[in-house]
Amino acid sequence: MSRVVVTGKIPKPGLDILRRDGHEVVAWDSEDQQSREQLLEQVRGADALVTLLTEKVDAELLDAAGEQLKVVANVAVGYNNIDVDACSARGVVATNTPGVLTDATADIAMALILMSTRRLGEGERIIRSQTPWQWGMFYLLGSGLQHKTLGVVGLGGIGAATARRAKAFGMNIIYSSRSQAPRELESELGAHRVDMDTLLAESDVLSLHCPYSPSTHHLLSTEQFAAMKNTAHVVNTARGPVIDEAALVEALKSGEIAGAGLDVFEDEPAVHPGLLECENAVLLPHLGSATVETRTAMATLAADNVVAVLAGGEPPTPIR
Ligand code: GLV
Ligand code: GLV
Repeated sequence: MSRVVVTGKIPKPGLDILRRDGHEVVAWDSEDQQSREQLLEQVRGADALVTLLTEKVDAELLDAAGEQLKVVANVAVGYNNIDVDACSARGVVATNTPGVLTDATADIAMALILMSTRRLGEGERIIRSQTPWQWGMFYLLGSGLQHKTLGVVGLGGIGAATARRAKAFGMNIIYSSRSQAPRELESELGAHRVDMDTLLAESDVLSLHCPYSPSTHHLLSTEQFAAMKNTAHVVNTARGPVIDEAALVEALKSGEIAGAGLDVFEDEPAVHPGLLECENAVLLPHLGSATVETRTAMATLAADNVVAVLAGGEPPTPIR
């Protein structure tokens, strides 16, 4: 019998899979995160860890678990919280949950595109604050999406799903990516690959769908905002530190760009105080994958990964 430690609260169907497979399952049962000390204690003796993106899985945590540890299953597609090299060095398999949250996250990206370009957050705040208002020909005008250009940074599953939605709203699609997308995907989207300079210059909306890594740290900063149209909007459903938040605040305040829609933040859950002062920023508390269906699918995929590795097989979605 293997010991599976689930470090945060996850939907029950995930736990059911682990228990059905006959493992001893030790699960944190509160939506409040446990402290680092509690976590280091909880993982001791684990053969498998199921982790959330808010937990740092580094050498210290792996060593606290012990040499018997075989797998770390992150309940997220992003895995910048995991030191994958440290896992490999210890022979620990790391897995994530790609695919199952693609549509939910693309929905939020599209929602942010609409909220930012149509000034929906501003409108909502006006009504909620009981500020007097009335319909006006020139009142709270935004910009339309039809015939505008969406620039996608990272045309993976989520980037492509966002592009598909934007295309249905009448947008043209360009993208930058480490590699060329398959020809069928390009032709389905009518998308072509451009370099980052072209992407910045031509996008009316720029949407980030790249993983966070040292190479994408502050991918958008002062210089990039200056290279964008003054009418452009930036949307981030990827990871906060892909954007230099202080530079974004400057760009939003000076009119270097027109607006931003953010679901993730550089120092989450803290939000740069400057952003709170920007009417042209839409701010959401990391809701990309937050549907009942998606969170359930993420938990069961993570559990499937654990079960496969503990049985000596290949996990469905390994990180490398
Ligand atoms: C959510 O942000 C995820 O990476 O799954
Ligand atoms: C993410 O979910 C992906 O499929 O790329």
